[in-house]
Amino acid sequence: MMMKIKAQLAEAILGGVLSIAPDCGMDAEGVQTLLEYPPDPAMGDIALPCFKLAKTLRRSPVQIASTLAPLVAGDCIERAEAVNGYLNIYLSGAYLANALIPEILEKKEKYGAPDFGKGKTVVLDYCSPNLAKPFHIGHLGTTVIGHSLKMLHEFAGYKCVGINYVGDWGTQFGKMMVAYKKWGDRQTVEEGGVDALVDLYVRINNAIADDPSLADEARAEFCKMEQGDEENLALWRWLVEKSIKANDVTLKQLGINFDSYKGESAYTELMPAQVQKLRDQGLLKIDDGASIVDLEQYGMPPCLILKRDGSSLYPTRDIAAAVDRKEMYDFDKCIYVTSNQQILHFQQWFKVVELMGYDWYEGLVHVPYGTVSVNGAKLATRTGNVVLLKDLFAAAIEKVTEIMEEKNPALKGREDIAEAVGVGAIVFYYLSNNRIKDINFNMEDALSFDGNTGPYVQYTYARACSILEKAADEAKATENVTVTTPQERALCIVLSQYEEKVRMAIRDYEPSVITRYILDVATAFNRFYHECSIFGAEDPAVKASRLALTEATKHVLGSAFGLICLRKTEKI
Ligand code: ARG
Repeated sequence: MMMKIKAQLAEAILGGVLSIAPDCGMDAEGVQTLLEYPPDPAMGDIALPCFKLAKTLRRSPVQIASTLAPLVAGDCIERAEAVNGYLNIYLSGAYLANALIPEILEKKEKYGAPDFGKGKTVVLDYCSPNLAKPFHIGHLGTTVIGHSLKMLHEFAGYKCVGINYVGDWGTQFGKMMVAYKKWGDRQTVEEGGVDALVDLYVRINNAIADDPSLADEARAEFCKMEQGDEENLALWRWLVEKSIKANDVTLKQLGINFDSYKGESAYTELMPAQVQKLRDQGLLKIDDGASIVDLEQYGMPPCLILKRDGSSLYPTRDIAAAVDRKEMYDFDKCIYVTSNQQILHFQQWFKVVELMGYDWYEGLVHVPYGTVSVNGAKLATRTGNVVLLKDLFAAAIEKVTEIMEEKNPALKGREDIAEAVGVGAIVFYYLSNNRIKDINFNMEDALSFDGNTGPYVQYTYARACSILEKAADEAKATENVTVTTPQERALCIVLSQYEEKVRMAIRDYEPSVITRYILDVATAFNRFYHECSIFGAEDPAVKASRLALTEATKHVLGSAFGLICLRKTEKI
């Protein structure tokens, strides 16, 4: 909606610009990119910083603003003012409301969906933990950023394939086998679940630190696996299944499921063909016995393809997997979400894919994110200094349950709601920052019901729902929406920006755009709710309009929640 308005505005401004300088060569699109949302509504709903045109028009910003002000007009514009070199534009509340609210009420949670993804496919590789190792807070980023990107792309019409490329092959299984054979048994693992597995993992790593010969034993066990030893493979299959099941419990709490779990082990068979191709193309070099692709020309260290003993490596499997995915899904984009420690790895093998002549290399996208610490402490999986995701969620749920028992003792179905709010709080907190920033996790902050938190926005959603429930039999304006107060206007303006935010989030692979937008909507709605009485409105038209605004807010919030793995809470 706001995009249409901006386009209209840009046309009007362009008219003014061309009347000053007919040959300046600007077009409406160029003008549109200059428009800004002022930080304070007193400075208009949209502003044009005229210093950006000063060079082109060879005039001062102040002159430009005052020349343009009287020329900018249109249905959507109430007035335009020139202030200190800015052109501040105030939109017509009535126009906005009537163009916007009926559209939202009709499209409901589909309102704001762009359609540029229609007919295109995106593969998303995210979560992808190494199995048999703890599933911990460090995996939160890839999991929730990855899933949000999937939801965002689906919203824009893409066909999406979510792949949990599990690390189900590697020396960690050799270690686990040594540990299991030494200390484990079926029953303990069956009963103890993840915790039992984590115990074994931590115990063996500590033991290796004391006695390095155990590391050789672990390598030997893994070697047996690679050579097809049935006993070890059976144990491996069982460990893989246990780990995936355990992780799925946590993923389910987030409402996440995957279309495929095809992991690293699947590529042992598909790799040799790619290695052969590299060899045939003369791209492989032998370096100290290992096979590498030299990337010096591109300013990168070599990409390792085969170890000295001929066994394959992480990049090799990624290359084989990308070829396989292209064949299976014919993707337009294949997105990988991992921590920023893997930036070089992706740059390297993307380059190798390009050198191999695969023209689809341009569709490969790496989306990195910053590291997480908890209350200031760095995490180390091997020593057991980790916060498991399941424990983090459990702690959050417990805390929320306490708060809810205090605030709303009569609430029904509390368990389910506490899970939605507890897990939601963590997701929201995590996705509040730009993904590339390192974050320090602070539980107190995340769970607060005040401030810019998940509980606050879910509470706002519940508020909108309860108003609508109370007004179930009352009329809601589907046309002739009246907007009389600044709070109503401000709410309309925020709601009108949804599609633009969705596009930005997709363009920058940045779910935090949506998180921040949700806060804007919640804040605007709460201001409206406090300042504009809904049930106390005397004029029935005003009341019907306010109910319509409430319903529109509910749809936009509900839709946006879905984009960032936040559950909708009708009641809290
Ligand atoms: N399993 C890897 C890790 O835990 C992440 C895999 C990311 N995806 C990929 N295709 N490389 O570090």
